[in-house]
Amino acid sequence: IQNDKDSQYIVSNWAKDHYHKLLTDTDEGQSIGLSYLRQRGLNQQTIKTFELGYSLDQWDDLLKSAEKAGFERKYLEKTGLAIERKDDQGKDTGRRYDRFRGRVMFPIHNISGRVIGFGARTLKANDKSAKYLNSPESDIYHKSDVLYGLYQARQAIRNEEVCYLVEGYLDVLSLHQGGIRNVVASSGTSLTESQIRLIGRYTDNVTVLYDGDAAGIRASLRGIDLILEGGLNVRVVLFPDGDDPDSYIRKVGDQRFKEYLDSSSQDFISFKTNLVAKEAAHDPVKKAEAIREVLQSIAKVPDPIKRQVFLQQTSGTFGIDEQVLITEYNKLVKNSS
Ligand code: CTP
Ligand code: MN
Ligand code: MN
Ligand code: MN
Ligand code: MN
Repeated sequence: IQNDKDSQYIVSNWAKDHYHKLLTDTDEGQSIGLSYLRQRGLNQQTIKTFELGYSLDQWDDLLKSAEKAGFERKYLEKTGLAIERKDDQGKDTGRRYDRFRGRVMFPIHNISGRVIGFGARTLKANDKSAKYLNSPESDIYHKSDVLYGLYQARQAIRNEEVCYLVEGYLDVLSLHQGGIRNVVASSGTSLTESQIRLIGRYTDNVTVLYDGDAAGIRASLRGIDLILEGGLNVRVVLFPDGDDPDSYIRKVGDQRFKEYLDSSSQDFISFKTNLVAKEAAHDPVKKAEAIREVLQSIAKVPDPIKRQVFLQQTSGTFGIDEQVLITEYNKLVKNSS
């Protein structure tokens, strides 16, 4: 088994080098992949640091090249780089094709820097398949245990004593290039406990940078409760509607972006309190519900002193007597334990 895993690491590392060479040294890679990355504002250094690549728009370039390089096909299958072609009955035909074709490749590293999987972005404006494809789960890639960019960010997270959490690959790359190197992405999935523990190895402070679309905000509130439960301090930065960290830093430039992070980050509990307070407006029933929602989040904070401070704040925001709020809080905690 150990041998088997080693072979999967080795073939993944080889594929990363192969995709990178295709990007920098072939006509197709340069005219399609590289020009796309340039158009997205990424420079050579960033491309090198993150070992970005390009997969040719062919069915079997990787399969053929791997065979030539002497790799057994089964390791391409186990890492999901190759897919089995099934017949109409769903039976394996024994034929294989490349999973990633005509896409910009983002290698995903584990914290020791080994390549364990890939994210891949389409370059077609109206691609019927997904904008991003990712490696499937494998013996070496467990997506719920991985944060994109952590390998490149870990020293900066320690130095800056905060980890910026973004949604996407391009967000990580643009911020890193702009000098904000303490940034990682959850890559579209909702945050997991093990990802939070991973951040906790480097810092107690997380600042979440949401995409500016309202839809995501509600859904992410749950993920943030999980961060609180992990004992980390959470701050939130919202971007103007329609912007994500990548588009925003490109719009305003590195310096103004950094100022924006500092001036508009809010403590998560205050953020949530304000959000639900606004939603509840003057409806007393909704307001009571909103208050309980905030209390639920406060209950996740392991530190009793911080909890006390948040309860005081919340009583202020909602204009509720602190003793009444604490009584309500105690009831809620008792009922849910
Ligand atoms: N994602 C995914 N599969 C999709 C869409 C998104 O895995 N079909 C993940 C990717 O990791 C992506 C992240 O979710 O980076 C955020 O999605 P989105 O905001 O839609 O993409 P961006 O990262 O902003 O990409 P781009 O700027 O290139 O559109
Ligand atoms: Mn797993
Ligand atoms: Mn989005
Ligand atoms: Mn984007
Ligand atoms: Mn985005």
